Amino acid sequence: MLDPVRITSALIDPALLDLPWSTPLEEWPADHLVALPQGISRHVVRFVRLGDTVYAVKETGERVAEREYDLLRALERIDFPSVEAVAIVADRQDDAGEPLDPVLITRHLQFSLPYRALFSHTLRPETMTRLLDALAALIVRMHLTGFFWGDCSLSNTLFRRDAGAFAAYLVDAETGALHSRLSDGQRGEDLEIARLNIFGEALDLQAAGLLHESIDPEVVCDEVVRRYEGLWHEITYEQQVERDHRHDIERRIRRLNELGFDVAEVAMSIVDGGRYLVRPKVVDAGYHTRRLLRLTGLDAEENQARRLLNDLDAYRAESDLIDEQQAAHRWLTEVFEPVVRAVPAHLRQKLEPQELFLQIIEHKWLLSERAGRDVGMAPAVQSFLADELVHRPDEKAVLGVEVPTG
Ligand SMILES: Nc1ncnc2c1ncn2[C@@H]1O[C@H](COP(=O)(O)OP(=O)(O)OP(=O)(O)O)[C@@H](O)[C@H]1O
Ligand SMILES: [Mg+2]
Repeated sequence: MLDPVRITSALIDPALLDLPWSTPLEEWPADHLVALPQGISRHVVRFVRLGDTVYAVKETGERVAEREYDLLRALERIDFPSVEAVAIVADRQDDAGEPLDPVLITRHLQFSLPYRALFSHTLRPETMTRLLDALAALIVRMHLTGFFWGDCSLSNTLFRRDAGAFAAYLVDAETGALHSRLSDGQRGEDLEIARLNIFGEALDLQAAGLLHESIDPEVVCDEVVRRYEGLWHEITYEQQVERDHRHDIERRIRRLNELGFDVAEVAMSIVDGGRYLVRPKVVDAGYHTRRLLRLTGLDAEENQARRLLNDLDAYRAESDLIDEQQAAHRWLTEVFEPVVRAVPAHLRQKLEPQELFLQIIEHKWLLSERAGRDVGMAPAVQSFLADELVHRPDEKAVLGVEVPTG
């Protein structure tokens, strides 16, 4: 019999009703659960698989669940990188009629890596730098949209591979608030919270022997703030431009595009005769992601998209195709898809297709450099599968995989 519960959701998966809602999450039987890496949390969080989808279920207070649900929906509407809210299940009670806490259900972010999984062996300092870059970029994006996080930490962030770098996602919005814009004071406060949280987390990692000896916890948290401030300045600073130096404005816009930000308009005012004061209005991150999506329908992280577009542009130049749309279609069907299809299904759990493709062309480049000639795609794919991919851990949500947890 189904347990009587109240579900709030925009799009409900009926299979959710079959879950054992009258049992505290802590005691859910293993046959419903999926073992996946997860960060440290106060609340009980479990992963369940229903059909092809894996969900994260978090037991929490009713008000908190509603707040977080609404915020995650709002972030989704503005296309912000965060986990997706699916439903709230409330009015739960156990078999004795005692009330149980409501749960918030989110969609599990595929191929995501909590920082604890990344640190399951000592991280190289360069990898650490990339994580901090991704986190700083996430906070900048967040503040540009007027979102105050209130609890930024490594635990409340998920990372996905992004062509040698990482892309960061918000996972815990419980303390957040969406404003029309943030004051410098609010931004500073949010950063201070981030600094303290990350300092604590870095100390924990150090105590567990998981921090590279050359990395100092204090430096780690200061670095996030420093990177944030550098990027924030780059995006928002007012620039003085001479009247006949308009290409300075263009250079600035190009630089912002390079960093992945789209510019909607440029506000200009004239100062002391002949000079402009210029301030670009950055509307959105994901410049390359959107261009790739428009051309090929492929959804990729920002750096992946930049590299894929490079490959596409090279293909277009080689094959003398003028029309960008046509070149994109041919590249997709004649280059990208055959490479991904050449990977046996069981190995595709290891990396998502976009990342797989990029690592293969990187591998092909290395082989070609070594051989002093272009080795061709087919041998490169075979060599990548046999020498590289088989040794990698699965990073997709897979049932029953043993992974280190927090
Ligand atoms: N949708 C999701 N996809 C992937 N992992 C998730 C998802 N939701 C939660 N997690 C994992 O569960 C962990 C705990 O979730 P969350 O931070 O929301 O819990 P919390 O108890 O509110 O945390 P806190 O102690 O910061 O209040 C996260 O660090 C993350 O690793
Ligand atoms: Mg959390």
